[in-house]
Amino acid sequence: MFKNLNIVIGVTGGIACYKVCGIINYLKKEGANIDVIMTKNATNFITPLTLETLSNNKVVVDMFENKTNYNVEHISLAKKADLLLVVPATANIIGKVANGIADDMLSTVIMATKAKVVFAPAMNDAMYENKIVQDNIEKLKKYGYKFIEPDVGALACGYQAIGKLANKEKIIKTLKKVWEGGKK
Ligand SMILES: Cc1cc2nc3c(=O)[nH]c(=O)nc-3n(C[C@H](O)[C@H](O)[C@H](O)COP(=O)(O)O)c2cc1C
Repeated sequence: MFKNLNIVIGVTGGIACYKVCGIINYLKKEGANIDVIMTKNATNFITPLTLETLSNNKVVVDMFENKTNYNVEHISLAKKADLLLVVPATANIIGKVANGIADDMLSTVIMATKAKVVFAPAMNDAMYENKIVQDNIEKLKKYGYKFIEPDVGALACGYQAIGKLANKEKIIKTLKKVWEGGKK
């Protein structure tokens, strides 16, 4: 199903970052080609080296790193993507995209791509239930962005509530559905 599919995975700065490893492993085993873009904040939680090793591709963090290379990376990644999955998706990246902000590599690629974009949010329950976050999600849904609802479960804050990253099976199932529903 995912064989030879170009999937760009955006990783943002949440405690669930480490869970992206299992998702990349699964998709690689299924034959997908994975390119990872991390936000600078995500690199506080997990290293680019880990995701480079798992994806077998260079991980991009900094928009301006490759000044001598005339391949405009944000455009080439945006074009290359068959699907773009943001996992975990912070309140911040959702807010930025919902408001047209493109101030780092990930938000710029999301702005520049015509591929389907799927967000898997994970955050504290109060953040998730914040009306601003919910409005941003609704706005993005209206524009055709897809969301994988977080689970109710044990949060990093030490109690049970909504905001836990959806499990791998749910994320994969949604990716399949989105790809089948809107091949480019
Ligand atoms: C320990 C720790 C855990 C965090 N976990 C989350 C999280 O799960 N979800 C979230 O939206 N923000 C979380 N944050 C806050 C984000 O890191 C912060 O909003 C940051 O600006 C996000 O940047 P990014 O979206 O560019 O990666 C966490 C911060 C810290 C210090």
